[in-house]
Amino acid sequence: MKYKILGIIMAVFSLFIGCKNDNLSVATAANFAPFEYIDGGEFKGIDIEIAKIIADELKLNLVINDMEFDSVVQSVVSKNSNIAMSGLAINDTRKQVIDFSDTYFNAAQMILVRENDKRFFDVNKLDSTNLVKKINSIKNLKIGVQAGTTGEFYAKGDKDWGFDGFKKAEILSFTNGAMAVTAMLNNQVDIVIIDEMPAKVLQKSNKGTKIIDIALTNESYAIGVSKDNKELLENINKILSSIKEDGRLEKIISKYYE
Ligand code: ARG
Repeated sequence: MKYKILGIIMAVFSLFIGCKNDNLSVATAANFAPFEYIDGGEFKGIDIEIAKIIADELKLNLVINDMEFDSVVQSVVSKNSNIAMSGLAINDTRKQVIDFSDTYFNAAQMILVRENDKRFFDVNKLDSTNLVKKINSIKNLKIGVQAGTTGEFYAKGDKDWGFDGFKKAEILSFTNGAMAVTAMLNNQVDIVIIDEMPAKVLQKSNKGTKIIDIALTNESYAIGVSKDNKELLENINKILSSIKEDGRLEKIISKYYE
């Protein structure tokens, strides 16, 4: 009897330990449709679907750690999460603290404006250099960005791109893109700089907004992994290459294009 109880305790204990080690925890900021967002109480999006495949292939339970975007990289550094999947662009500053997997998506920063803002009526014909010039020529411009993102770095000036930033403009940082767009519609900022696909989603759900369809940057999304987990990094790269080869990645991405 004594041994039976001991056995049960041991079994429960090992189950507990086992569960703990069998997770793949993913740091993300689920406010970035179509890459990660919450819909009907569920995590959805391109990154979430890729994360599910990775967890399945590695026979791990997927755990989503939802947080503000500017904590995502740190969560991997401090090992509170195994990986970061958050529409996370490769950049040199981040590379100093985490490893990046191979890339799975090409992205660009774009500009959202108010539809009725006359200053931006004819800009769609410009190239990116002239668009930047045009923006620099506007007095007292306020630019909304998401805190901790490459869009913010770009707007403030970033040596990764050799871009000085919009020096004369005032840059206001928001927790997420939706808040920045609301601020724009309330005339608290004039333009919003954010990644292309999220810009398109935000444009659709916010009447009175318009996208300037000109890429300001050239970025690649990848998965962030702790610097001392090369085995996981390698496994992730293998899975990424297999979903690229067999068309699964393309299928996931195209599901979110309307
Ligand atoms: N691609 C940009 C970056 O890497 C923005 C990502 C924002 N992601 C999010 N889930 N809110 O900085």
